[in-house]
Amino acid sequence: MSIAIELTSTLPEPGAGGAARPVDAVGVGVFADRLDDALPDGVDRAFVEAQEFEGRPGQTCTVPGAGGRVVVLLGLGPEDEVEVRTYRRAAAAFARAAHKQTHLAIDVLGSLPDRLDPAAVAQALAEGVMLGSYRYTALKSDPEPSHIESLTVLGEGDAHTLAAIDRGRAVGEAVRLARDLVNQPGGSLTPAAFAARAQELARLKGFDVEVLDRAAIEREKLGGLLGVNRGSTEEPRFLLLSWDPGGEPRGTVALVGKGITFDSGGLSLKPSDSMVGMKGDMAGAAAVLATFTALDAVQPPVRVRGYLPLTDNMPGGNATRVGDVLRIRNGTTVEVLNTDAEGRLVLADALALASEGEPDAIVDLATLTGACMVALGRKIAGLMGNHDGFVEAVRAAADAEGEPVWPLPLPDEMRKALDSEVADLKNVGNDRYGGALLAGVFLREFVGDGIPWAHLDIAGPAEATEDEPETRKGGTGFGVRTLLRLLSTFTPPDRAAVASRR
Ligand code: BES
Ligand code: MN
Ligand code: ZN
Repeated sequence: MSIAIELTSTLPEPGAGGAARPVDAVGVGVFADRLDDALPDGVDRAFVEAQEFEGRPGQTCTVPGAGGRVVVLLGLGPEDEVEVRTYRRAAAAFARAAHKQTHLAIDVLGSLPDRLDPAAVAQALAEGVMLGSYRYTALKSDPEPSHIESLTVLGEGDAHTLAAIDRGRAVGEAVRLARDLVNQPGGSLTPAAFAARAQELARLKGFDVEVLDRAAIEREKLGGLLGVNRGSTEEPRFLLLSWDPGGEPRGTVALVGKGITFDSGGLSLKPSDSMVGMKGDMAGAAAVLATFTALDAVQPPVRVRGYLPLTDNMPGGNATRVGDVLRIRNGTTVEVLNTDAEGRLVLADALALASEGEPDAIVDLATLTGACMVALGRKIAGLMGNHDGFVEAVRAAADAEGEPVWPLPLPDEMRKALDSEVADLKNVGNDRYGGALLAGVFLREFVGDGIPWAHLDIAGPAEATEDEPETRKGGTGFGVRTLLRLLSTFTPPDRAAVASRR
């Protein structure tokens, strides 16, 4: 489904003919502290109060409008607290409230506080409608049809705002793609199917992809990926994505995403209940691929490279045994003492390979540990890294996008918990305490010297367990917007400030 999004300075009259769209739902922004100002003619405060509408952010109230139109009041909270993200959320709530209507118009830019950039808000409106109207219906025999065909943003018709709306649509589409990939079952989104999808998207969206099949993965000595794949009848794939900006690049950023298309745990088999949702263990890879699909629209001033190891983690007869030792791309040997700690094994190869390209920074996204969810809950990603300034840049990008992340430490002292009797490292520690940190400490071993690196453990926020205005139960597309903003605002971090390993 696609939604046409345009910018117009005046709302077409109800029933107007000609080129104007027959708008059938108008969303009107309402500040909680100025409720009366926004009520359309004929709608009185008592009616709205009876609906318990107070103008809280994300709250909506549908009232009859002139000419058979529906008017949806969109709560924005108090005027002096409104932020760009408030508008994204309001637009998403609008799409939810008006999902039975066809042509939507949104009227908020006219009452925008001076401190907010109209273009940034217009982009957020486009994103919000794309996100709020998302549903995963690919496998429903009789899906409830989606009615929304267009959104008209009312505002000055300047080129700047128009371009922002196009960016918003592209970003919204990218997030929806990441959600689709997470929601698609593991038996259907195999590594080969993921790779084929990436090739199709590369052609459509203007980036390059190189697909390594099993033989190429063997040649490239990606021993972590091969070790995790051994128990599966599905072949692994490794994707190398690449995009270059139009102008003079400010540097190169490598994006790494965990792509476990289904995580059974392998021989260290998960209990059945813990396997539910493990089709989404490729959410990191999905976020990176989705980010690439928006690069041409967003035009960040950097070269972007993507590294996606793809396999499922299955307990077949040839599976990696507990105690087996794998040799990672960079030569490091790893004793596998729990085959369910597979993400770090495939990421080790990917981080080592990414490091060989000497990028100015690496970011990885991974649904890596249940421990991160114990620490931070279902909605907040854990953020770790080897460079305080770069970690702060990732935090700031996430914060600006309203994607919650929280810093966690990588204690040098934990490294010794990974000492193995027989290999260079083991893939798990001796107890479960600090499991998210220990996974991060493991990954750090595979980041090249002097390369600024940040790690986002998205085990919690990659999937939602409840509907909200901008997300539905299932895949959220978490990380796509953070990455796009990080790339757009990127300046190469000081390599000398990479924390040395002691
Ligand atoms: N994919 C899981 C982590 C996960 C758990 C993601 C729940 C989303 C929701 C990962 O591969 C895993 O199994 N991690 C183990 C690590 C342990 C064996 C050290 C875990 O968290 O239990
Ligand atoms: Mn696992
Ligand atoms: Zn996993």
